[in-house]
Amino acid sequence: MSPFSARLAELLLAALVVTLGVICPQPATAAGWEIIHAQTRTSGGSSSHPSIRYGHACAIAGGKLLTTHGYFYDRERSNATWLSDTWSMNTHSPYTWEKLSDHYPQALAHKAYTTNRPPEAPCGRFGHATAMVNETLLMYGGHDGGFSRTNRQDYQPNHDFAEMWSFNLTNRQWVRQPVASDQGEGPGKRYLLAAAAVQGRFVLYGGLGEGQGDVWAYAPDRRTWTRLAAEVSVEKGGPGRRVGHSLTPWVAAGAVGLVMYGGRSTAADGTNVVHDDAWFFDLKTNAWRRLRPAVAPAQLAPGGDDGLGSGTGDLPPGRLYHASLETSLPLTSGGTNGGKTGGGRGRARVGLVAGGTLTTPGLKCTGDAWAFTLDCAATQIAWARLPDFPAALYDTRGAAVGGVAYVFGGHLCALEHPAVPPYPFWYVNQVLRLDLAGRRELAELLRAGGDGPACELQPGEGPVHDEL
Ligand SMILES: *[C@@H]1O[C@H](CO)[C@@H](O)[C@H](O)[C@H]1NC(C)=O
Ligand SMILES: *[C@@H]1O[C@H](CO)[C@@H](O)[C@H](O)[C@H]1NC(C)=O
Ligand SMILES: *[C@@H]1O[C@H](CO)[C@@H](O)[C@H](O)[C@H]1NC(C)=O
Repeated sequence: MSPFSARLAELLLAALVVTLGVICPQPATAAGWEIIHAQTRTSGGSSSHPSIRYGHACAIAGGKLLTTHGYFYDRERSNATWLSDTWSMNTHSPYTWEKLSDHYPQALAHKAYTTNRPPEAPCGRFGHATAMVNETLLMYGGHDGGFSRTNRQDYQPNHDFAEMWSFNLTNRQWVRQPVASDQGEGPGKRYLLAAAAVQGRFVLYGGLGEGQGDVWAYAPDRRTWTRLAAEVSVEKGGPGRRVGHSLTPWVAAGAVGLVMYGGRSTAADGTNVVHDDAWFFDLKTNAWRRLRPAVAPAQLAPGGDDGLGSGTGDLPPGRLYHASLETSLPLTSGGTNGGKTGGGRGRARVGLVAGGTLTTPGLKCTGDAWAFTLDCAATQIAWARLPDFPAALYDTRGAAVGGVAYVFGGHLCALEHPAVPPYPFWYVNQVLRLDLAGRRELAELLRAGGDGPACELQPGEGPVHDEL
């Protein structure tokens, strides 16, 4: 496929305009994940609940779950709906949602773009990437099908965005950041990329377009982009270019970088490859290295408390369009620390990947959730399976704070009718919550290697919102 037809196919698939043979695995039990906001009966949301959506973004700000932008297809009105509203959810019961910023109409954005004025806010888009830097939400990229540039949904190429926006959580205003670069251009128009904040920089990798396997960093204080690394092909021992992967910021015991997991790439013969590997992008050397799966400790019995988890040792199946989030947990979390570490030690960084699709094209959604951690040298990755979501979802998003994970929105993998009651739409707006504290499988993960994971965080190594 040409880059354009590949891009078009992906967009059409994402927008659910074409009918593809998709299947949904059996729904898993709800053990572990609590549904703190059930799916609403209406698609459009209300003053107290955001609409159904996918391809949105989530973050933690001021201890609250933040979500912005995304997409859903309104079947009743045959309307592709590109969202631009921003919400926060209190992370204490009753988990109240508050709308921080209204939808910015595509018609206003179109008027601005066609008269060469900057739009006042980022109009609807999906497949963008966000990260909290310096208590400000930064958002880059995304795609709106053409609405804001042509006032039509025409899926022409180049209707993805090269814009960096910041959202000030105090005055709730979006501000478009001027584009400047140390090395010529910035990362350019892209979507289905991933980004993460590391030590005050917004770092991104990947995207749907050819040549987007490079790594860029944005410094908000200097408002400059720097290209940290060119694409390193699979043949040359790198991860190549990926789409629908995740990036998790990783700062622990002196290691500074990002964990990249999953996604898909296209082989030279045009076939899709769905990845199950994890990589570390080292921000000290600006180089990739593939993370070795840590060897399972033989003494661990398989099976978590709920019978769903399989403990440490197993590896998650490859996926794309999954949720990723990170937090830190006490090294003594959930029980003894196996005598490998002194009692009362600090915390370890833990990442999560959950949901997504196992195949593409032809989506096979998954609802499994996995936690990982790295050794201090950031060369090995150890995994533990967590309870499954109540239903398999792709393009769901989440964030964690204080050892509790939250997941919002997403899309079911079924076209004829929603597979699992009580979901009346393909897209969802439920919120799931999983308390990671005291879970046996995580205690096992954190004491796993002894000489491998997990690694104690040094003061100031975050994650930032867990230190507040
Ligand atoms: C589609 O939905 C959006 C958002 O709800 C709305 O602003 C727009 O007017 C709708 N367009 C049509 C053609 O119904
Ligand atoms: C955010 O808005 C507040 C209130 O207007 C202002 O004091 C603050 O400087 C803004 N922050 C940034 C990073 O612009
Ligand atoms: C963080 O924000 C403050 C004020 O909003 C600014 O003065 C400072 O330069 C920012 N720091 C970075 C690293 O961007």
